[in-house]
Amino acid sequence: METLEKIARAAIAYDKGDPKRIHHLLKVHAFARLIGLREGLDPRTLFRLEAAAYLHDIGIHEGERRFGRNDGKIQEELGPDVARPMLEGAGITGEDAERILWLIGHHHTYTSIDGLDAQILAEADMLVNPYEDGTSRQQNEALYQRLYKTEAGKQLFEELYLKEWSPVRQGC
Ligand SMILES: [Fe+2]
Repeated sequence: METLEKIARAAIAYDKGDPKRIHHLLKVHAFARLIGLREGLDPRTLFRLEAAAYLHDIGIHEGERRFGRNDGKIQEELGPDVARPMLEGAGITGEDAERILWLIGHHHTYTSIDGLDAQILAEADMLVNPYEDGTSRQQNEALYQRLYKTEAGKQLFEELYLKEWSPVRQGC
C-alpha cells in the first residue's frame, strides 16, 4: 500500500461511523491536491500537504470525547498527538512528520501561515466548509477576501461560491 493510501485508510478507520468527517477529509484532500498541482509544488511538499489534508481534523473526536467541543483551537491542540502514531505507522518520520504535525496544529490559525503548504491547506479546508456549514453569500465573500491567495484556490472558490449557476441552453 502506498504511504498516502495508508494515511487515508488510517484516518477513515479512526473516524469510523462518522461519514460527515470522512467525506470532509476526502474532499479537503482532493482540493488540496488540485491546488498543489496547479501551484507547481515539488513532490515532497505536495506529499506533506496531502498527508496533512487527510489528517488535519483528526483531533475533532478527541476534543468531543474529552472536552465536549470540536472548535478549531481544540483541533489544533489535540490533532498532532492523534496523528503522530498514524504517521509512524505509515513510515513517515523526521522533517516530513514534523511539518505534517505542524500543519495539523495550525490549520485554523491564518496568522501563522508560513509557506505555500499551509496556505493551500487552509484554502482547501475553506473550499469545503462553507458548503457543509451553509454560510451566507456575504460570509463567503468576506472569507474569499481574507484568506485566498493562490490563483488555483481563488478560481475554485469563485466557481464554488461566487458564480451563479445557470442551465446550459441547448439548441437555441
Ligand atoms: Fe477541516
